Amino acid sequence: MSDAAPRLAAARAELLAKTPRCREISEERAEILNSGLAANLEMPHPIFLESGAGCRVVDADGNSYIDTSVGFGLHMLGHAHPEIAEAIRDRAGKGWMFGIHSTTQMTLAELLADASPCAERVVFCNTGTEATFYAMRAARGFTGKTRIGLFDGCYHGAHDYGMFVTDPASDPDAPQPLPMGHGVPAQIAETILLLPYRRPAAIEQIQARKDELAAVIVEGVQSSNPQPGAGEFLAELREVCSDTGVLLIIDEVITGFRVSYGGAQELFDVKADLATYGKILGGGLPIGAITGRADVMETFTGLSAKNGIFSGGTFSGNPLTMVAGSAAVGHLKAHPDIYPRVNGAGDRLAGAINGFCREHQLPVQMKNVGSMFHLFFQREQIDSSRDLHAREQTAEKAFYLQTLNRGVLVPGTQRAFLSAAHTDADVDELIRVFSESLLDVQADGLFVG
Ligand SMILES: Cc1ncc(COP(=O)(O)O)c(C=O)c1O
Repeated sequence: MSDAAPRLAAARAELLAKTPRCREISEERAEILNSGLAANLEMPHPIFLESGAGCRVVDADGNSYIDTSVGFGLHMLGHAHPEIAEAIRDRAGKGWMFGIHSTTQMTLAELLADASPCAERVVFCNTGTEATFYAMRAARGFTGKTRIGLFDGCYHGAHDYGMFVTDPASDPDAPQPLPMGHGVPAQIAETILLLPYRRPAAIEQIQARKDELAAVIVEGVQSSNPQPGAGEFLAELREVCSDTGVLLIIDEVITGFRVSYGGAQELFDVKADLATYGKILGGGLPIGAITGRADVMETFTGLSAKNGIFSGGTFSGNPLTMVAGSAAVGHLKAHPDIYPRVNGAGDRLAGAINGFCREHQLPVQMKNVGSMFHLFFQREQIDSSRDLHAREQTAEKAFYLQTLNRGVLVPGTQRAFLSAAHTDADVDELIRVFSESLLDVQADGLFVG
């Protein structure tokens, strides 16, 4: 490889030389700790982070990187924001977990109810996975129907009811589900309906199967394929769901407080029956939440309620998360100028990189909706995840290593984000590093298309 791709070999050697402690930790860790559950980015080289502040993170060897993961998108204000840190410190001195209700929940509940266009009621849980799981259960309880419609290319967390991918051999208008990995009971497939994303056939299928469908769940913007056209499709779904009596669940775990303060529902002016939240809402601590129509949310009020469902969790609404979330969301509410600025920065980054790729005829494109973005290593147009081709994998991996060695952490196949802490100068630096890294990959001859 070193003869064939000298720039890649040089970058790898440089990175190895400056990260000896990271390598050591990686070797020690392999003895005892399975990765997987503890979220880690699949990096081209093991990097273990020691600290973060603003848009930067520092690894165990003291190397600093501009971070474009920002905790899988949750640090909208950057790492270790002083107001959130202060709220956590203050709460740590007063006790941070009681189980029974604390005085801290109302502040965040009110902020969320005010921000979420569909919120007549709010329920807290601990992760985005729990939020979508409960929203599906509530929809089943409320409607008395079982099946939930999911979309090709979606992600709603790690529970069994969302763990399906599309059989690539299936008809694009009738995608067939395959379990994502082992351990997902085959019978669960009978409780879902996989629908084509952004295709008229989805609308037809919802109409045809309305008597089976409790709800359809859709990401505000599909993180596997972020594009502004998402809004038109949400509006079509709203219409067909209202016509057919199928509930519309909009999964705002990523888009909530990200694409705008009121999330995708506000940006695209579409109101869900239920919406799910996570990530930014918790100020960096674990959180999930469900908001929605009062009659549907009534199912959460206990088993004795009409259509009541079971919900519960030791850590749900815990005071530490509540105060961190209130600090983060309170700051975002008080600084509405953050959204045009961060969204503009995302558009500028994508515009510059796409222009650069066109100029140099590189088979790479950046898709973004405001500050959420993703680089795709392919020339072909991408309308839905069915159009994704992993043709340029070698080039893609080499690119991540090149950027890392230049001090920019790109979260690989995970989604990338800007935060309010990324300045114009940071965005300039991202453009420079991405462009130089792409040219290195090209000079190494690693693009096939
Ligand atoms: C759209 C969406 N829904 C749900 C989840 C699950 O959230 P969590 O990882 O907090 O369980 C994610 C996680 O990335 C997500 O992107």
